[in-house]
Amino acid sequence: MPAQTHAVYRIEGGYPVIGEIHCLGAKNFVTKAMVAALLGDTPTTLTNVPPIGDVDITADMLTSIGVTITRSDDLMELDASTIRSSEVETPDSGSNRIPILLLSALLQRFDTVSVPVLGGCKIGERSIDFHLAAIEQFGGVVEVTDEGIVARRIKPFKGTHIQLPYPSVGATETCLYLSVLAEGRTVISNAAIEPEISELITMLRSMGAIIFTSPGRDIRVEGVKRLSGTRIEVLGDRIEAASWASLACASHGNVTVHGIRPDILGNFLSYFQQVGGGIELVGADSIRFFRKEPLRPAIIETDVYPGFSTDWQQPFAILLTQAHGISIIHETVFENRFGYLKALDKLGAKTQLMTHCLGSVPCRYRDGNYEHSAIITGPTPLTAADTITIPDLRAGLAYVIAAAIARGTTIINNIHFLERGYGNIVPRLAAMNLRIERIAASAYS
Ligand code: EPU
Repeated sequence: MPAQTHAVYRIEGGYPVIGEIHCLGAKNFVTKAMVAALLGDTPTTLTNVPPIGDVDITADMLTSIGVTITRSDDLMELDASTIRSSEVETPDSGSNRIPILLLSALLQRFDTVSVPVLGGCKIGERSIDFHLAAIEQFGGVVEVTDEGIVARRIKPFKGTHIQLPYPSVGATETCLYLSVLAEGRTVISNAAIEPEISELITMLRSMGAIIFTSPGRDIRVEGVKRLSGTRIEVLGDRIEAASWASLACASHGNVTVHGIRPDILGNFLSYFQQVGGGIELVGADSIRFFRKEPLRPAIIETDVYPGFSTDWQQPFAILLTQAHGISIIHETVFENRFGYLKALDKLGAKTQLMTHCLGSVPCRYRDGNYEHSAIITGPTPLTAADTITIPDLRAGLAYVIAAAIARGTTIINNIHFLERGYGNIVPRLAAMNLRIERIAASAYS
């Protein structure tokens, strides 16, 4: 359900969060799966589809070109055989990062495709040069205008060797959409290997694609003439899972998270235990999270998978405000992802931003003037602030965690950012003893 911009969350914090929660389907896979469905000759069914704004935005864009989408509960069927246009329109609800991916998938069906301007969180420049270069290398031409992007296929797509300058998630997806139906062999070097990419490869294989992965970052694709539809369950959201872990530990609570494969949380589980968090595997896809010991500080450097995800750093930062000592976070994936720290200081946290690289991971922002390293000094008890305003999606859930551990009542504004990526937040968290309400902005003041 799209958020109403005039609603806010009211959270009365200071109580342990205790209970069980199911991870919803992963935001950063489901929309890519919806795009992949366009490559099939027959309908595709997705299950475990989360009720989040990004799914609605993507569905609106697909229906604007004639894709037939049927939804009931968490099931979605997409039939691309009814597509009648290749001019994707911006939905009233706004845009997200998906238009750039639609470009390559739709070029498999049409000679000319236009998509709207990209939306998504403002966490850096988020250039799309790798995507555009890949489309051109396969045999397309691209024009970026103020209204969006227009791409033309000037000859049949032919397999090629793409050397990505950085293992971009989105650009790897673009290369996969372009290569599976291109003629001949494609090699994507320095590809992203995030779990959501592996799942997309699994989905494409189930549609008939021939894709070989390697121990490193090379993906080899042998193009096929057609793909069929498929049925796939959307994997659990590893960003949600890490957030619930941070919430449990920061609030002195105890939360069992269901619907998440521990292997895709990778190094998060190690960082979590290193700072004093406790985990117990209670089933094949269920993990209990709690605080085991007084919290210790950490040095975190975000990185591409299997490194510490840039989408985990915001909830983890809240945990680090409660650790005894000085913690450091070096953000190496996006140059502007600490916009949320100012409001955290309003709640009593002690943070400082630096333009220096405080770490050893090779970082593209070393010579720039970007505040991409943060120092967090703890422990600092948090106290409620009247209102804090969410700057971007992942920061949104970090604010919910901060408000949950802050004594008193905090109002969180701009929740439409958060609801683009998290579904049914209020009932799911209220069921775990968190005093949270979604109210009209006019109801407080
Ligand atoms: N980059 C370029 N040129 C490109 C593409 C990327 O320079 O053509 C740079 C970006 O500017 C960035 C880096 O490469 O500095 C990594 O970007 P990437 O393409 O990997 O990110 P993305 O595909 O735009 C996805 C997720 C993000 C997640 C990142 C990294 C989706 C819709 N978004 O973004 O998730 O942080 O990968 O894992 O899948 C979120 O969910 O809140 C979110 C931001």
